[in-house]
Amino acid sequence: MTQAAIHAPERPEQDFLSGEGFCLSEATLQKFGREVAKYPEGRQRSAVMACLALAQEEIGWLPPEAIEAVAGFLGIPPVAALEVATFYNMYDLKPVGRYKLTVCTNLPCALSGGAHAAEYLKEKLGVGFNETTPDGKFTLVEGECMGACGDAPVLLVNNRRMCGRMTPEEIDRLLEDCA
Ligand code: FES
Repeated sequence: MTQAAIHAPERPEQDFLSGEGFCLSEATLQKFGREVAKYPEGRQRSAVMACLALAQEEIGWLPPEAIEAVAGFLGIPPVAALEVATFYNMYDLKPVGRYKLTVCTNLPCALSGGAHAAEYLKEKLGVGFNETTPDGKFTLVEGECMGACGDAPVLLVNNRRMCGRMTPEEIDRLLEDCA
């Protein structure tokens, strides 16, 4: 399988998050508004997952300030947004590398090469699960079933791009394609 080149999202400078001047961009806030508009009046909290994803897309991860900003926009308690952010592993509560590689190690994948794929990636990148390579390029994460067991072993790039049948050769190709 030939992989197209994968480009990491643009990330702001880290000092974007420091001090009291934290704010999401106007473009992201407008997207929040469009998500809220999908739900009936008074049900704006239903947009919490989408808004958290948009905030993460802008910043690269979800610092407490971003979670509070989402909660503030939706008019819900910060803890309600935090509960969602901590429940789903697509939300990153600490900085990750430019490429987050989530390897499924649930049983069907594990029995079909998932465990080996994870070990291969650990060895190749020189990191364990929940660790980032020293150059900040890759973060390796252990994931749950992604509903693509028939394509095992499966991994997900940056929470979006699903890659199946990840033999060592395919993993090598994928890593090379990460620009
Ligand atoms: S067990 Fe890996 S995708 Fe289902």
